Amino acid sequence: MQNILILGANGRIACFAEQDLLAKTNYQLIYFLRNSSRLTIQNPNREQVIEGDATKVSDLERALVGVDIVYANLAGKDIVQQAQAIVQAMQKQGIRRIYWVSSLGIYDEVPGAFGVWNNQTLDGYLQPYAKAAAIIEAAPLDSTIIRPAWLTNQNEVNYEITHKNEPFKGTEVSRKTVGVVISELIQNPQKAINDSLGINKPNTDGDKPAWY
Ligand SMILES: NC(=O)c1ccc[n+]([C@@H]2O[C@H](COP(=O)([O-])OP(=O)(O)OC[C@H]3O[C@@H](n4cnc5c(N)ncnc54)[C@H](OP(=O)(O)O)[C@@H]3O)[C@@H](O)[C@H]2O)c1
Repeated sequence: MQNILILGANGRIACFAEQDLLAKTNYQLIYFLRNSSRLTIQNPNREQVIEGDATKVSDLERALVGVDIVYANLAGKDIVQQAQAIVQAMQKQGIRRIYWVSSLGIYDEVPGAFGVWNNQTLDGYLQPYAKAAAIIEAAPLDSTIIRPAWLTNQNEVNYEITHKNEPFKGTEVSRKTVGVVISELIQNPQKAINDSLGINKPNTDGDKPAWY
């Protein structure tokens, strides 16, 4: 049995991953978030809530006690401070395995006209996301960076994966897909160590996501 700490546990992708982990494993899930009243607990024997801020090392250290795997589903302008605090707290508590949700485009790996559009549209967002991912990758941790395409709320699981140093494929992917992929990765923690996975829906290549 594993203890999984989910940072940003009320995030939309995180909620899909949590449902999948509850259904397919017997793992204990520890939900870390700023406002615990937002979450509904279904199984108090397996779900625990800790209020905290991911920029605060002391909050993180408290939450990391007894944890095997960290899954960070975070966002925000202070994403770099969050990455720094998480690395510091994990090292202090001697925990190595982390899944870090980032974004397509952090390595300028999106090819063609879509890549140009993506860089322009995400200017100001991609830079801190790239820096935060680089902090996680450079840390003495066993990390997997997750780079979703543009997110949809489609009720589907349909994906293909690209790896670091490969051109990104497609334009979109559903949050449900990303949550299920992360759940599967957490169930196979020896896989994709120190890798960075692009996730997209097949056959969605284009100059922009379809809804733009
Ligand atoms: N939109 C896209 O097309 C797209 C594409 C690729 C990647 N992404 C990225 O993928 C990631 C996950 O997506 P998502 O839809 O699951 O995002 P989301 O629903 O916005 O979840 C992010 C979570 O981070 C939490 N958070 C932010 N700062 C925090 C802090 N200091 N301490 C604790 N929690 C904090 C938020 O909590 P609060 O509720 O307390 O604010 C929120 O629940 C995001 O970083 C997003 O930018 C987005």
